[in-house]
Amino acid sequence: MTHILLLQSSSNLASSVSRDLAASYVKAYTAAHPDATVTERDLLAQPVPHLGVDLFGGMFGKPEALTEAQKAALAVSDSLVDEIEAASLIVIGAPMYNFSIPSALKAWIDHVIRAGRTFRYTETGPQGLVHGKKAVLFLASGGVYSDGPYKPYDFQETYLRTILGFIGITDVTVVRAEGLAMGPEAATKAVADARARAAALDL
Ligand SMILES: Cc1cc2nc3c(=O)[nH]c(=O)nc-3n(C[C@H](O)[C@H](O)[C@H](O)COP(=O)(O)O)c2cc1C
Repeated sequence: MTHILLLQSSSNLASSVSRDLAASYVKAYTAAHPDATVTERDLLAQPVPHLGVDLFGGMFGKPEALTEAQKAALAVSDSLVDEIEAASLIVIGAPMYNFSIPSALKAWIDHVIRAGRTFRYTETGPQGLVHGKKAVLFLASGGVYSDGPYKPYDFQETYLRTILGFIGITDVTVVRAEGLAMGPEAATKAVADARARAAALDL
């Protein structure tokens, strides 16, 4: 049975392309797999705090010496990691903001990249501890970055693939709707192409 963790990160609640693509995919998936279950974490509706002093203290302090505030901050991080562990399929909707990902998503990442839980240090380097999961990323951007002169500006797909791979999630499928700011025709085609690609996914 598939358990999906759906993460939404666009600040645009009215007409976000990445939100719509990710939500539509999950809707179609659950229609085709009625036993699939979903946990939705909307990082704008339920923002994850920045990695603050209490979480830092909670992560790196001696467990027996943690303050109540540090324990509470760590509990938030623990519950977000639990959500990853419970999922077999992670679906992320993410816009490109300033060549990268939204800070709302980065705050979530800062909570779930945890030494000893999602990765560990070994004598040969860090090792991911999250195994057997797939991820599908629905990415939207005003320009085109998958190819062409702006490819080196892409810190969205490259970053998400890198950070997911770092904790062991290497089975990552990316569906991009690109060029959304390059005129109405290009935008319509980009969304239609992304929808077609999403519909053809067999996960
Ligand atoms: C704050 C902000 C920063 C953006 N930065 C970029 C950028 O660096 N490159 C780009 O191609 N588009 C950029 N865009 C355009 C968005 O990526 C584009 O509108 C996309 O559709 C947003 O995704 P969404 O529709 O899911 O919200 C930016 C938009 C906003 C609001």
